[in-house]
Amino acid sequence: MSRKILVTAALPYANGPIHIGHMLEHIQTDIWTRFQKLRGHQCISVCADDTHGTPIMLRAQKEGISPEELIQKTHAEHKKDFEDFLVAYDNYHTTHSAENKELSEFIYNQLDNKNLIAKRTISQLFDPEKEMFLPDRFVKGECPNCGAEDQYGDNCDVCSATYSPTELKNPKSAVSGATPVLKDSEHFFFKLPEFGNMLKEWTRKDHVQDQIANKLDEWFDAGLEEWDISRDAPYFGFEIPGAPGKYFYVWVDAPIGYMASFKNLCEKTAGLDFDEYWQAGSEAEVHHFIGKDIVYFHTLFWPAMLEGAGFRKPTKVHAHGFLMVNGTKMSKSKGTFIKANTFIKHLNPEYLRYYFMAKLTNRVDDLDLNFEDFVARVNSDLVNKYINIASRTANFISKKFDGKLASGIADHALIKEFESAADTIAEFYENKEFSKAVREIMALAGKANQYVDNEEPWVKIKDDATAGEVHTTSTVALNLFRILTIYLKPVIPAIAESVEAFFNVEALTWNDINRPLEDHVINRFKPMIKRVEQKQIDTMIEESKEDTAQENQPQLADPLKDTIEFGDFDKIDLRIAKIVTAEHVEGADKLLRLELDLGGVVKQVFAGIKSAYQPKDLVGKLTVMVANLAPRKMRFGMSEGMVLAAGPGGKDLWILNPDDGAQPGMRVK
Ligand code: 2FM
Ligand code: ZN
Repeated sequence: MSRKILVTAALPYANGPIHIGHMLEHIQTDIWTRFQKLRGHQCISVCADDTHGTPIMLRAQKEGISPEELIQKTHAEHKKDFEDFLVAYDNYHTTHSAENKELSEFIYNQLDNKNLIAKRTISQLFDPEKEMFLPDRFVKGECPNCGAEDQYGDNCDVCSATYSPTELKNPKSAVSGATPVLKDSEHFFFKLPEFGNMLKEWTRKDHVQDQIANKLDEWFDAGLEEWDISRDAPYFGFEIPGAPGKYFYVWVDAPIGYMASFKNLCEKTAGLDFDEYWQAGSEAEVHHFIGKDIVYFHTLFWPAMLEGAGFRKPTKVHAHGFLMVNGTKMSKSKGTFIKANTFIKHLNPEYLRYYFMAKLTNRVDDLDLNFEDFVARVNSDLVNKYINIASRTANFISKKFDGKLASGIADHALIKEFESAADTIAEFYENKEFSKAVREIMALAGKANQYVDNEEPWVKIKDDATAGEVHTTSTVALNLFRILTIYLKPVIPAIAESVEAFFNVEALTWNDINRPLEDHVINRFKPMIKRVEQKQIDTMIEESKEDTAQENQPQLADPLKDTIEFGDFDKIDLRIAKIVTAEHVEGADKLLRLELDLGGVVKQVFAGIKSAYQPKDLVGKLTVMVANLAPRKMRFGMSEGMVLAAGPGGKDLWILNPDDGAQPGMRVK
């Protein structure tokens, strides 16, 4: 029976890049979605950028652009990152959309009409300089428990105490540095406790994993509280209907963004009906894939809001653990905080998809990406086991049998065995037991190789008496390879596409498992994947460290950071320099190699200005250089100084360009 399934992954915030931690979730979601599609179900996956809230508003201010410009730029980047990793959403929308505004207002009005919104005045920390209320994370001070300095307003990194920002000692606004004051304002609350019984029942009916149901019991025991859903201007978000200057807290319109993205897709797709999926009592399925840190929002607030507003509730919320790299949290200084667009420059994204698949379970445990294991696993499974089946048999068909597969192999015992694994593998996929599916599939790949080993076609082909058998052996092996490709297709869709081209067949589906290819002309086999080398990983990690070094450039006007003394400034030897050589650096995305003449002395500098300048346009120009910077060893060589450049980055980056009156070597200050 064909099912109707809507799948979502958590909406990434629009103020930062997609990294491999995000990818764990989006790849898990995509594998599950592709599996459902392969089985012939109507399965639709949607996502969007999560664009509202204070951090995004402040980030845009810092960059000197409007929040709209910021979220538009990020949207394009995120979309590309997902496409690069073959995460194929049917729609990748934004929460700053007309559909989302309309649905958020509708849901709020429904709740308000049913008397599910309470209003009362609360007192919160307010930044008198910036004239804004401060979210917990934007207040810093001394921990009320242990006295540690520079702690956030919600919990202490040193002693782990949790508290409210008003309890911090010597609080300072992280936005302006001012001392916050307490200020009253009216807030709107969603009456979550009214849904206590419904939620207790719902969470015990297989809508969440057991580990999550246990966690929820703890929350129920602690008691549900009303949820503060309003924020005061200035805030980037949707204004609450009938309440000028009050905005929906970002976590209100974020999950509604799932519906809005789907609605937007329905508007573009004939026959796709929003109500069929979302009305109360709908038979369609709705599955949310999320990280364990946002379970509260998805298993309490969200089903309660849906119920209150008269919509259906999710079929299942699937939570996963965090991504660790080499046994610890992703770390910027270790270079393991790897952005999607850095990864893609060095490694095939399908390798990451495969590795995640091989390690994912349906539990909420953390997953470790160990790069040594990654290299070993990709090479031994994908290259040596899976692809090898075809690479060691396909040539016999093309060279000795006119490219045509034999017939009469459909009842071969191995083919039958491979076919009969389908239900077990499907069940593993369905239940998100991906690692078990991989184990099963690779065990079969091992058997296929064993079969070829035993048959020794490379020996038989030399003897006229046995050469004919090679036709059967290769045809059987290639059919086994074809079945394995169907099993792996949700994980490695691009490789699967090359395999389809090789077999000269239409896109394979789950139903093709039982349809052996016989008496059929195939194409010549071309190598489809390369081995991974440790060197590629090392370079990627180095590049991630460099990304971080660039981000960590001190920000201007951050009053919480120390100022420098004039004496420190005076130590900097700024000189006019003439660019005598400028050239591209092989393998570097951002750097140009410059040789700078300081009036007789020539120094080499690697400058991150490639995005803005062509080398030929720089030669002969004057610029300003920090001449006494200690030489630094970079990946591409020694850098013996720094050129001064300004701008937000990308194409908008200008090196200082003194006029021709200046002479190389002249001191600047
Ligand atoms: O935690 C996060 O990254 C949020 N942006 C996830 C939102 S998920 C949904 F509710 F929109
Ligand atoms: Zn503390």
